[in-house]
Amino acid sequence: MSNSTNEKIIAIDGPAGSGKSTIAKALAKKLNLDYLDTGAMYRAVSFISIQQNIDVLDEKKVLAIAKEMDFNFEDGICVVNGFDATRDIRGSEVTRVVSVVAAMPTVRQEMVDRQRLWVKEKGGGVVEGRDIGSVVFPKAKVKVYLTASEEVRAERRIEQEETLDASRVADSIRKRDEADKGRLNSPLVRSEGAIEIDTSLMGVEETIEEILGLFKWK
Ligand code: CDP
Repeated sequence: MSNSTNEKIIAIDGPAGSGKSTIAKALAKKLNLDYLDTGAMYRAVSFISIQQNIDVLDEKKVLAIAKEMDFNFEDGICVVNGFDATRDIRGSEVTRVVSVVAAMPTVRQEMVDRQRLWVKEKGGGVVEGRDIGSVVFPKAKVKVYLTASEEVRAERRIEQEETLDASRVADSIRKRDEADKGRLNSPLVRSEGAIEIDTSLMGVEETIEEILGLFKWK
């Protein structure tokens, strides 16, 4: 396994709307570490597949897209095959298919290899996703499992997406949670040793302080 325990890795997992991106970004800034949104990688594969009219149920074809994909994530900007796709990868069509693409074992392996390489090159980082503490970096120095009530998570998404269609958003989150938790490969779980933090009633600063209080770098 490529993740040495000498690397400063903070693994943050949790369902949609639990606050992963906000917390991971802020933590990275505070600790002067790089930040990687692994969901953006699965979204990027889904986006390119849709763009190229690939059948997203065809694992071989999706894997070919994943292998060819040039993916760059720097300061929250996601550049895919040379184009800034930060906005596009969060579109509703991508959100609809991403859990299907993310359930493909060969595609996951490709992404996990890239995530480990990224951390190796950066010498550590704050990495957020669904399987970071369980599969990608089980030996991460700090593992956090963020949660929040279904209502709060849906509210956050509604704010982010600036939509009034609350029931559609809640439904989409519920379906994705089910798919991510129920899949055979690398399901979303609270990994061994992960500290669970419920952010329903917590602000960003408070959550960060709690995480920072959990550990001391050796
Ligand atoms: O930001 P949001 O919570 O909506 O999701 P995301 O982090 O962008 O991830 C999108 C999807 O990618 C998730 O619903 C999972 O299906 C998949 N994913 C995954 O399987 N493993 C990861 N490490 C990260 C994301």
